[in-house]
Amino acid sequence: MMDRVIFHVDLDAFYASCEILRNPELKDKAVIIGADPKGGKGRGVVSTCSYAARKFGVKSGMPISRAYKLCPNGIYLRPDIKYYKGISDQIMEILRSYADKFEQWGIDEAFLDVTESISNKINPTELAQKIKNEIFEKIGLTCSIGIGPNKQVAKIASDFQKPDGLTYVSPEQVRSFLDPLPVEKIIGIGPKTKKILNKKLNIETIADLANYPPEKLNKIFGKMGIDLSNVARGIDNSPVQEDYKRKSLGTEVTFDEDIEDFEIIYKTLELLVNKLHKSLIKGRYLYQVVVIKIRFEGFSTYTRQQKLKTPTNDKKVALQIGKKLLKEFESNPKKVRLLGFRLVDLSESKHVQKTLLN
Ligand code: TTP
Ligand code: MG
Repeated sequence: MMDRVIFHVDLDAFYASCEILRNPELKDKAVIIGADPKGGKGRGVVSTCSYAARKFGVKSGMPISRAYKLCPNGIYLRPDIKYYKGISDQIMEILRSYADKFEQWGIDEAFLDVTESISNKINPTELAQKIKNEIFEKIGLTCSIGIGPNKQVAKIASDFQKPDGLTYVSPEQVRSFLDPLPVEKIIGIGPKTKKILNKKLNIETIADLANYPPEKLNKIFGKMGIDLSNVARGIDNSPVQEDYKRKSLGTEVTFDEDIEDFEIIYKTLELLVNKLHKSLIKGRYLYQVVVIKIRFEGFSTYTRQQKLKTPTNDKKVALQIGKKLLKEFESNPKKVRLLGFRLVDLSESKHVQKTLLN
């Protein structure tokens, strides 16, 4: 079997970098995102901080009062998740466009399987650099990319030279790259497992783990023990895959003036469906659920949805159901303020079918 080429992309100091993006005066300053420090008396924790703040010893998860002691002159901001999510969505769109297979992992990380994109025209490092450049030029943020033959190695590699890093671990280098690292670098080894490995089994490094008898690990940890042993020896076959159930595509418009004429609502729906259908085809998806959202003056909001018997990518069906779902609102005497349309339960269109409603 051919070796895979997997990228793990992780944005640098993500929330803090987003804040610096909208307020360039914060550049190179110690920016700390989290609870209100209230002059050192605040409760709650640090979500993240800029690399300038990390020099003072401030870290994610630390009590904000402790951060305030370490860095009293820092700039302390509350998180604005909605704004960060908007930036994350734009970045994920860029990343998705480069991936043969794509898997988002939290707000600022993603795995890309790019095996088929690598050729004698572009090598893994060049492709990763191209992605970094595009994110920097279009969004203005830096990220770190790790490249390896599997997800575990790629993830560990992205963390290897942060910020603005690029680390390529070729299949031949995997063992020498992993060997000296502490075991907790492996995804899935949390504080509890680390403690057992370190204290009970005297396993400190990934090399120690690789050399430990797998049957003994199996006795202690069950199947996870075997998986850990494999990962330590550079083996991880877990695929890069989209979390389809959570995946949906949606769009909405707020009208400049509230709308009375339902013909305009239906025309707008058609525009929304057209727009969304383009992304559907581009992402090679099928949908199985159609959702509409309508908001009237005074802000009362309704959503309606219908599930199809089988997944499809048919545009006409989407429009037909959308119109049907909107129909009950035609007689509502209030004017319409917002219209939204969403396709849910997306799956990969391997066998493209053109199913109809019933
Ligand atoms: P991370 O990628 O872990 O951290 P980061 O992007 O801030 O920094 P790094 O350069 O080391 O990647 O997490 C992404 C975002 O998730 C982070 O910006 C804020 C949020 N987050 C929390 O809210 N609480 C936490 O404990 C952690 C670890 C992250
Ligand atoms: Mg990050």
